[in-house]
Amino acid sequence: MTVLTTEQLGVLARAVSRAPSVHNSQPWQLLVRGTEVDLLERRDVHLRRHDPSDRDRVLSCGAALTNLELAVRALGRDCHVGLRGDGAVVATVTIGRRRATSTRAYLLYQAIGRRRSHRHRFFHSRVPTTVQHALVAAGETSGVHIVRPARLDKLAQLLGFAARVLRDDRGYQRELAVWTAHTHGWDAAGDGIADDALGPEPLPFAGIVRPDTPIPDDAVLADRLAGENWLVFCTDGDNRADQLAAGAALERTWLTAASKALAGSVITQPLHLTGFRARLVSELALPGVPQAIFRYGYPAVPAAPSPRLPLGELFAPPGGTR
Ligand SMILES: Cc1cc2nc3c(=O)[nH]c(=O)nc-3n(C[C@H](O)[C@H](O)[C@H](O)COP(=O)(O)O)c2cc1C
Repeated sequence: MTVLTTEQLGVLARAVSRAPSVHNSQPWQLLVRGTEVDLLERRDVHLRRHDPSDRDRVLSCGAALTNLELAVRALGRDCHVGLRGDGAVVATVTIGRRRATSTRAYLLYQAIGRRRSHRHRFFHSRVPTTVQHALVAAGETSGVHIVRPARLDKLAQLLGFAARVLRDDRGYQRELAVWTAHTHGWDAAGDGIADDALGPEPLPFAGIVRPDTPIPDDAVLADRLAGENWLVFCTDGDNRADQLAAGAALERTWLTAASKALAGSVITQPLHLTGFRARLVSELALPGVPQAIFRYGYPAVPAAPSPRLPLGELFAPPGGTR
C-alpha cells in the first residue's frame, strides 16, 4: 500500500483524538512512517495526585489504540498491532492490504464520535441480559477479566469511603481544579474536563469528587448503585502490557455500549488510594488486579462533549514526542 493520504490520516487522528483519557489529558501522539503508525505515550503528561504511577496514562493509550485500530479497519485496510515493550512507543500499527471491514468493527468505529463520559443519572438501567453479555464479550480478552460485582453494598462502602477521603484531600482537589479550570473561553486549551461534562448534580459514585460534592451515607449509596449496571475491569498482571490491554478492553466495551444506545462513565479515581485496590479485590472476590470501574445504563439526558486538542498537535515530529 502507498503512503496514507491527508484524508486517511485525518480519519486516524480524529478517531484517536476522541478516545477517553484520564482528566481528558490526551496523553498520546502519532508518528507516521509510511504505512506504519507509532502510538506514542506522552510522558510529559503527569497527574501527580490522580495518577501517581502513570497507570491511567497507559490505560488511556490503550483506549486510543482501540480507536486507531478501528479507524484503520474502517478505511478498509488490514491492520496489525505490535505492542512495544518499553520507551515512549506503546504500539506500532501496520496498515496492510485492502480488506472489507466487518459490520461489527464498523459499528464500533461509528460509535467513537458518540461515546462520551456520562456522569449523570440514568433514565433506567434494566439492560437486556444479551446486551449485558455483549458488553462483557467485547472487552474480554486473554488476561483481561470483566466482572459484574455481586456485592454492591461492599462497593458502595468502598466508593463512599474513597469519596470522603478525596473530597477532603486539598492536594488532590488543587490538581483537579487545574484540570477543570481551563476548558472555557478564548484561551481554552483543548484538554481538561469541561464543567458541562460534570453536570450540575455531581454524583460521587459517577466520577469526579469535588469539594462541594454531597456524599450520601453508605446505605443510600448502595441503593443508588443498585439502580445502575457496574463492571470491574481486572487483569492477571499489573505491568504496562496489562494496563494497555485493560484500556483497550475498556474502550471496546464502552463503544459497544454506545453502539447500543447506552451511556456510561469510568471511575479510576479511588483505585489510587493506598490500600483501596487490595480491599476491592478481597471484598468483591475479584479474579485479578482491578484497573477500572465502569457504570452504564440508558441515558436520561445527553452528556456534554469534552474539548480536544487541535488535530495538528497529535502528530509527533520525526524523532519523538513533544
Ligand atoms: C484511564 C482513565 C481514567 C479515568 N478516570 C476517571 C475518573 O476517575 N472519574 C471520571 O469521572 N472520569 C474518568 N475518566 C473519564 C475521562 O475524564 C474522560 O474520558 C475525559 O474527560 C474525556 O471525556 P469523554 O470521555 O466525554 O470523551 C477516565 C478515563 C480514562 C481513560
